Amino acid sequence: MPCTVVKHPMVEDVLAALRDKKTPSDVFRMLARRLSLLLIVEATRDLTLTKAAIETPLEKTTGHTIADRVVAVPVLRAGLGMLDAFLELLPRAQVGYFGLERNEETAVARRYYEKVPKDLEGAFVFLLDPMLATGGSAAMAVDGLRELGARRVRLLSIVAAPEGVAHLEAHSPHTEIYTAAVDRGLNDHKYILPGLGDFGDRLFGT
Ligand code: PRP
Ligand code: URA
Repeated sequence: MPCTVVKHPMVEDVLAALRDKKTPSDVFRMLARRLSLLLIVEATRDLTLTKAAIETPLEKTTGHTIADRVVAVPVLRAGLGMLDAFLELLPRAQVGYFGLERNEETAVARRYYEKVPKDLEGAFVFLLDPMLATGGSAAMAVDGLRELGARRVRLLSIVAAPEGVAHLEAHSPHTEIYTAAVDRGLNDHKYILPGLGDFGDRLFGT
């Protein structure tokens, strides 16, 4: 399973500000969106194009439009911080939702909500979840997408732990990961180190 770490000075710059505990929620939200834009551009580089006849104000020519059926699936809550960016770049994408929540003591995820298009067989599915920690949530979401027929699934995360990358690789080797960073590891509470804390709490000010 390829894990692509997106390298760009702007990615580094935004990530540093996201990690900073002094960054307030309103700024955090804006930065999460900005970093998502950079990740999404990289993660969609190989979308299929189709020719389209167009007419400029001066003459007829041929352009190219995206042919793939693209589906974005943010994992609630934190994945919502990446959705606006996705829809700005791919406004015709369909959107589905998985609600997953880690148990605070065991760090094991439970699925509490699902609203995803049912016929995902031909779709290019982008799972949006900014934190890949143990990998339990991502594996659960990928399982849900597979049950709905998805074959091409790409996970967009902002910060990943090596444990999560390894878990997802073992669990679903065909799921590709795009992330801004693979950090050092997890602490005893399964939080990413150095990480950026609880993404959902920082995004929503809770
Ligand atoms: C966070 C994060 C991921 C998950 C990652 O969500 O957004 O979904 O933890 O951890 P894992 O790889 O160990 O499963 P959380 O359960 O805290 O819910 P929230 O988004 O509602 O805050
Ligand atoms: N979820 C988060 O929001 N942060 C972590 O470090 C791990 C899981």
